[in-house]
Amino acid sequence: MGCRECCSGRAFKWALAGGVITALAVAVSMVIALTLNQGPQSGCEVDAVCRPEADMLDYLVSLGQVSSPDGLLVSWTHGANSRDKMEEGLSSNSMVLEADVNTEGLNTANETGVPIMAHPPAIYSDNTLQHWLETVLSRSQKGIKLDFKSLKAVGPSLGLLQQLTDAGRVRRPVWINADILPGPNSPISIPVNATQFLALVQEKYPRTTLSVGWTTRYLAPLHTRPYTKAMLEEMHALVGAVPQKVTFPVRAVMVRGAWPHFSWLLDQSERYTLTLWQGRADPMSVDDLLYIRDNTEAHRVYYDLFEPILSQFKQQALNATRKQMYYTGGSLKPLLQPQGADGLSLEWLVPEVHSNGTAAVLTLPDKDGMILLDVHLQRVAARDPVPVVRVLEGHSLTLESSLLQLAMRPGRWGVHMNIAEPEALRPTLTTLARLSSLGHLPRPVWVGATVSHGSFVVPGHVDGRELITAVADIFPHVTVAPGWPEEVLDGGYREQLVTDMLKLCQGLWQPVSFQLQAGPLGQSKTDVVARLLAASPRATVTVQNSHTRSSPAAVQLGLLVARAEDRSRVYYRLPRGQRQNLPADVGRN
Ligand SMILES: *[C@@H]1O[C@H](CO)[C@@H](O)[C@H](O)[C@H]1NC(C)=O
Ligand SMILES: *[C@@H]1O[C@H](CO)[C@@H](O)[C@H](O)[C@H]1NC(C)=O
Ligand SMILES: *[C@@H]1O[C@H](CO)[C@@H](O)[C@H](O)[C@H]1NC(C)=O
Ligand SMILES: *[C@@H]1O[C@H](CO)[C@@H](O)[C@H](O)[C@H]1NC(C)=O
Repeated sequence: MGCRECCSGRAFKWALAGGVITALAVAVSMVIALTLNQGPQSGCEVDAVCRPEADMLDYLVSLGQVSSPDGLLVSWTHGANSRDKMEEGLSSNSMVLEADVNTEGLNTANETGVPIMAHPPAIYSDNTLQHWLETVLSRSQKGIKLDFKSLKAVGPSLGLLQQLTDAGRVRRPVWINADILPGPNSPISIPVNATQFLALVQEKYPRTTLSVGWTTRYLAPLHTRPYTKAMLEEMHALVGAVPQKVTFPVRAVMVRGAWPHFSWLLDQSERYTLTLWQGRADPMSVDDLLYIRDNTEAHRVYYDLFEPILSQFKQQALNATRKQMYYTGGSLKPLLQPQGADGLSLEWLVPEVHSNGTAAVLTLPDKDGMILLDVHLQRVAARDPVPVVRVLEGHSLTLESSLLQLAMRPGRWGVHMNIAEPEALRPTLTTLARLSSLGHLPRPVWVGATVSHGSFVVPGHVDGRELITAVADIFPHVTVAPGWPEEVLDGGYREQLVTDMLKLCQGLWQPVSFQLQAGPLGQSKTDVVARLLAASPRATVTVQNSHTRSSPAAVQLGLLVARAEDRSRVYYRLPRGQRQNLPADVGRN
């Protein structure tokens, strides 16, 4: 977490000064909670959340300290190391106490091996970890985050935690934090050895939340690089398979520039969250924070930031009428599937196009959902061909004009472009890249096509590899939505058809939504949807019913098969009546 602790009492004063509307309600309940909890270990009652490995938000919600599982509502004290600072933290209304653990006399002749509360370079302290834990556990219900800057203190500290946990004293979430990988702009700083750190946690205190980050340094704006894809992949390789919940402490100022990668990382596991932190002098922008907020579910990000930025950000973040900015390549969850909503509730909206006398205009039902645009190419002599959505009475509705008209549209929606002729692919992506760079595309964007590939080569459709290559070359920030040609589906989704599609999409970092026809799905082996969803944690399936040669019975069966496989990762591009006939209460998740 770098040198955020270079801060003084100023941040603390700001924190007190921060006037947030919701803080009032929280403060009142905190006062009540604090008064009720003077006695040791009273309070935490819901056994499942009174555990060191419990989710921090579940715990705080159960105590009534936050009203909903929203990381924005959690408040923090850091550097609660010395006895004074610890007391200050205990009497504050923050919900989580963060403190640094070091080894007494580290690397001197006087090294004792005793874990003490000190931030390096300090190697002495008036507070030992033992005393800190005894005090904090008996006098508060605050969550605990212990930050390790070197490996030596980790083993003894985890041993101590385990003893207290065995004695039934640690009935609250505990986060164990260390920077274990080299991160942005810090070529020389030495992280805590990742393998040894993770091994110690698994061996000595596995019932915890891992908080693992990258060393960072902030340089002048022009010289400061964001996190890279490789850094995030390296971290995922380390913790992808551990059983613990994992939160990644990330330096807020370097996150937005790397958002495609963070979007990818958060989608890799439901166990993952981010904890944004700020260096004392980092010039944090409220817009960047709002962008992160808009593109994540509320329970996936904690905001451990300084005032006055924190209050400014909170005020705007909680404003429901604020205009939001979405990442085109993100999943639909934050925008269209709040709180893990069932994919069945998502609608596909087909616009009508009419002429107003001078131009073709697009009208849509006043609903939330994915707006479906079929994109063709209009060839005009002596000009570059133009992607169009419709040509009507001599007026053409270009893709660009459609998207600009949509940009004004309020509500919750994304746009699903279906490339109706192969030559329209690259011009469409070029249009998307341009509009996105101008800020006119603040919504999830899907680019789909019926593709021709492997065992489903059918002339006239978009070449499968060309779809992948063009997206990668021109505008990679989309969800890729490939489907199979009708011509090959008469016997259902045969094994080889699925295998070849999976191979085609193998290694894509983007979300992929496989477009399936209900009828042929009803004629297939029952594992088709499961195989497609297993392609990556970001994969989804969209079932439609436009295959003309399917019997109603096969269609119904296909829909039920999809429904039974998964609830949140299967969407239905069907008329409302047909969606409403599907059973609501089956499916996993
Ligand atoms: C070790 O402790 C002794 C006695 O307290 C002190 O005199 C000495 O300076 C310390 N040595 C180091 C390297 O800190
Ligand atoms: C971390 O420790 C392991 C095991 O002791 C060692 O093999 C590895 O090289 C160390 N990694 C780094 C980056 O020093
Ligand atoms: C909420 O945001 C809208 C649009 O930006 C703004 O007009 C309004 O004043 C904001 N409301 C509050 C309470 O800040
Ligand atoms: C028709 O629609 C276009 C595009 O939205 C707009 O610029 C134009 O003013 C409209 N014309 C009339 C007569 O409403």
